[in-house]
Amino acid sequence: MSEIVKILDTTLRDGEQSPGASMNTEEKIQIAKQLEKLRVDIIEAGFAAASPGDFEAIKRISEIIKDSTVCSLARALEKDIKAAGEAIKSANKKRIHTFIATSDIHMKYKLKMSPDEVVKRAVEAVKYAKEFTDDVQFSCEDAGRSDMSFLKEIIDETIKAGATTINIPDTVGYRFPHEMGEMIKELYEFIQNRATIAVHCHNDLGLATANSLYSVLNGARQIECTINGLGERAGNAALEEVVMAIKTRNDIFKDITTNINTKEIYPTSRLVATITGIEPQPNKAIVGKNAFAHESGIHQDGVLKHKQTYEIMRAEDIGLETNAIVLGKHSGRHAFKEKIKSLGFDLKEDELNKAFERFKVLADRKKEITDDDLRMIITSELTTVPQIYKLKKLQINDCSEGVPSAAVTIEYNGKDITDAGIGDGTIDAIFKTIDRISGFNGTLNDYKVKAVSKGKDALAKVVVKVVFDKNKPAVIGHGLSIDTMLASAKAYIGALNSYIFMKDILKTKRCQEEEEI
Ligand code: KIV
Ligand code: ZN
Repeated sequence: MSEIVKILDTTLRDGEQSPGASMNTEEKIQIAKQLEKLRVDIIEAGFAAASPGDFEAIKRISEIIKDSTVCSLARALEKDIKAAGEAIKSANKKRIHTFIATSDIHMKYKLKMSPDEVVKRAVEAVKYAKEFTDDVQFSCEDAGRSDMSFLKEIIDETIKAGATTINIPDTVGYRFPHEMGEMIKELYEFIQNRATIAVHCHNDLGLATANSLYSVLNGARQIECTINGLGERAGNAALEEVVMAIKTRNDIFKDITTNINTKEIYPTSRLVATITGIEPQPNKAIVGKNAFAHESGIHQDGVLKHKQTYEIMRAEDIGLETNAIVLGKHSGRHAFKEKIKSLGFDLKEDELNKAFERFKVLADRKKEITDDDLRMIITSELTTVPQIYKLKKLQINDCSEGVPSAAVTIEYNGKDITDAGIGDGTIDAIFKTIDRISGFNGTLNDYKVKAVSKGKDALAKVVVKVVFDKNKPAVIGHGLSIDTMLASAKAYIGALNSYIFMKDILKTKRCQEEEEI
């Protein structure tokens, strides 16, 4: 009989702590739906007390997700646990994940609390969390650098208080795999079947995946991870790596498996990269664009003769299939619908109609529409916030002769407004003109442009990060077009719409700076 290692995905919480990875509520909902399709056991949807935006996103995700457990993080504080409990209230399966630091360095300098006070606070937190749900996870933050006898003491007390999962985070990515394995072995012997042991490994030394796997071999039965390895600093263990390692090396893991539908790995990775604007490095294991590409002649020859000469996994197993249907200008609605379905999207009728319209516009200008083009179209259709400002026309005069300028027409409140402006470059002129029309004053924090597919007629994807209020974080905007300038204008207006839509629920600086416990 197989034994399951549960997968807790924390892309929407720890992953969102990656610099520049903040997402709006609609984007988080799309990712949560895809994580459910991937069959992750637990979705850590956010940190409810962090901001009204986090609370709202967890609440909406709890209303939508049915199969996966929805979890909110909470410090060991009454107000955090209350916010977490309220945010997950309507979830079909719900979990509160409360934590407090247990290493000497954290207790002394960060918490300024004695070990006894920490145990007391942890026990109170778990007991209070139990009032909202039976499924309570307790984490010993910085367990990787905590004293073993203290860990046993706090674990024992929190289990008695009702914790059903005990998480052992290597918060600063310090441990080596054999050390992590020994630590989990000793804790497994101590805890036995009183609670599930989870691990949460950071990647500061590039060991997060190895540490998670060694933990499983020594008794851990939950891995916390993120898509594409996103997360605080160097990130967390990558879901795709731990899952595919367990599957590929079943000679080592024997009857231990995960519930993950591995065919959804690649679509999930693309969705997360598209939404966050953070692309996995090309040589990233499993999901990098070179992960299944063979460049050298010897390798190519070998693979053509027999795939397994140089491939230990099948591209199809992670959902990287080359699909037979190629779409173009003459493709009809039926072929489009089938293709979208084969890419794993399940669209409502009106979403399908809008996506089809966008596809037709693109197909008029581009000969062959690739799977990545389609993923982009659908993702941007599903994650856009209401279009308060809508780009109608753009005319530019580039910097080759004279001053770069832009004339922009935007629809606002049912009326077309046109204005023109100059700038230090064409993009600057476009953004400044949009500011003049809207009355907002954005500061560009980041600008990225990427060709979605190959060829001269490739679709350009522009991602911008803009600050509209210096007391609030940057918002992301995406723009997609064959023309880079048009894509840039769309991205900037997208960021503006996102800002207006979310401005009341965005984290304020005060909230971010609030003292950590
Ligand atoms: O890295 C860490 O310790 C965490 C905890 C909150 C689980 O993210
Ligand atoms: Zn973490």
